[in-house]
Amino acid sequence: MTLLNSPEYLQIPVHVRSFCYKMPFVVKQEPYLVAICVVSHIQATIICSQQHDLQIRTRSGGHDFEGLSYVAEVPFVLIDLMYLREIKVDVDNQTAWVQAGATIGELYYSISQKSKTLGFPAGLCATVGTGGHFSGGGYGFLMRKYGLAADNTIDAHIIDVQGNLLDRKGMGEDLFWAIRGGGGASFGVIVAWKINLVPVPSKVTVFQVARTLEQNATEIIQRWQLVANKLDERISVWMGMKRVNSSQHGKLTIQATFVSTFLGDVQQLIPLMRKSFPELGLVREDCTETSWIGSVVFMNAGLVGSAGNESPEVLLNRTQFRMSFKGKSDYGRKPIPLEGLRGLCHFLYDNEVRGAVQFVPYGGRMDEISESEIPFPHRSGYIFHILYSVSWQEEGDTAGS
Ligand SMILES: Cc1cc2nc3c(=O)[nH]c(=O)nc-3n(C[C@H](O)[C@H](O)[C@H](O)COP(=O)(O)OP(=O)(O)OC[C@H]3O[C@@H](n4cnc5c(N)ncnc54)[C@H](O)[C@@H]3O)c2cc1C
Ligand SMILES: *[C@@H]1O[C@H](CO)[C@@H](O)[C@H](O)[C@H]1NC(C)=O
Ligand SMILES: *[C@@H]1O[C@H](CO)[C@@H](O)[C@H](O)[C@H]1NC(C)=O
Ligand SMILES: *[C@@H]1O[C@H](CO)[C@@H](O)[C@H](O)[C@H]1NC(C)=O
Ligand SMILES: *[C@@H]1O[C@H](CO)[C@@H](O)[C@H](O)[C@H]1NC(C)=O
Repeated sequence: MTLLNSPEYLQIPVHVRSFCYKMPFVVKQEPYLVAICVVSHIQATIICSQQHDLQIRTRSGGHDFEGLSYVAEVPFVLIDLMYLREIKVDVDNQTAWVQAGATIGELYYSISQKSKTLGFPAGLCATVGTGGHFSGGGYGFLMRKYGLAADNTIDAHIIDVQGNLLDRKGMGEDLFWAIRGGGGASFGVIVAWKINLVPVPSKVTVFQVARTLEQNATEIIQRWQLVANKLDERISVWMGMKRVNSSQHGKLTIQATFVSTFLGDVQQLIPLMRKSFPELGLVREDCTETSWIGSVVFMNAGLVGSAGNESPEVLLNRTQFRMSFKGKSDYGRKPIPLEGLRGLCHFLYDNEVRGAVQFVPYGGRMDEISESEIPFPHRSGYIFHILYSVSWQEEGDTAGS
């Protein structure tokens, strides 16, 4: 158990710390106690908090967009799972047990140490915690092939309000359904997940291609909206839009960036793209062949602004992502018409904030899973996920993309 001014508490990622201090509508309450817990501590903390009329907030990776894991308007105890980080990969059975305080970066790294042909479909940012991520869904570049992290979660250990430690059998199917997409904190403290690992080829191809409005970005975006969710499910082409300096001196323009992971080699990828999405004009030189873990490093690098060819150990760095931003999710059922895209560009040109949007294609496996299979409902009929974000620079921030 650790008190508020301890070094551990001060390790809360800056992007979340700075954001919560800026939320004018939250009457910020400092936690009464920060409990850095092992399993028996969690049980004791839950019982103790009830006796003292204190609420509980649970934090795994601390990446909640609203700061829900560490702010409250009422007196509370913060249960921090940073010491529950054990990961056991079982290659023969293609499963793993991962404790809730482990990051997805630590999970990916552990899998890659045991096998070059197994992976797991979850998010990009290596510092996201499995505790919050899997209990909210968890999407990433393997989603079109394998669905969400929560779709591939097969057992869990949770501590309930009475302090009981329960597995899937003990908690029952209803509760196990709920914690895979319904938000873990509503139901208890999740201690660990058991997941199914998924097969990945030994060669994976990544690319990142940018086009400005002068380079026909508008036409390419419109085409992307029609094809991205229908492409071969081994390809996931994400599209981001932001404001950049134009090549014409002193002018601004909008740039669309297409970032992709393909579960196969470049020889298979080029003809597939030429057939389905020729407007992008992808050529061999745009592509890099790597392993699945190499593709994870490449995508994470896009977030932290590094080169992308680092060794997998970078995924273990828990302090690499420090930037101040605010994001909101949205889901699209129909392509955005030209007029809508113009409105979006207008927002991106705004000088006051550094705005960006990211579009993540659905389709593939996402179309096949029923909307009630787990609480995550955005399945067939949705063509993409949208993330709107604004970012700003503060002292202590390191990432700048
Ligand atoms: C930089 C960044 C990048 C992101 N990238 C992606 C991405 O690529 N794909 C994607 O799907 N999402 C992404 N997200 C969103 C992320 O998945 C969610 O914010 C997720 O909830 C974070 O989990 P956490 O454990 O890090 O956060 P926390 O802030 O620790 O927790 C989030 C929520 O879950 C609850 N919770 C946490 N741990 C437990 C537990 N053990 N038991 C019960 N409840 C718990 C918390 O109380 C809180 O309500 C990103 C977020 C950020 C900030
Ligand atoms: C893992 O697989 C082995 C056989 O390879 C089997 O004996 C064992 O019971 C399995 N373990 C679990 C936890 O399923
Ligand atoms: C943009 O598209 C037009 C035709 O639609 C084409 O002639 C032109 O070469 C394209 N420009 C770029 C930079 O690709
Ligand atoms: C864009 O241009 C502005 C003004 O000319 C300059 O200050 C800024 O550094 C440029 N940004 C980039 C990313 O080149
Ligand atoms: C983690 O990343 C940050 C930011 O890039 C860097 O300053 C720090 O040295 C890294 N830590 C380790 C242990 O590599």
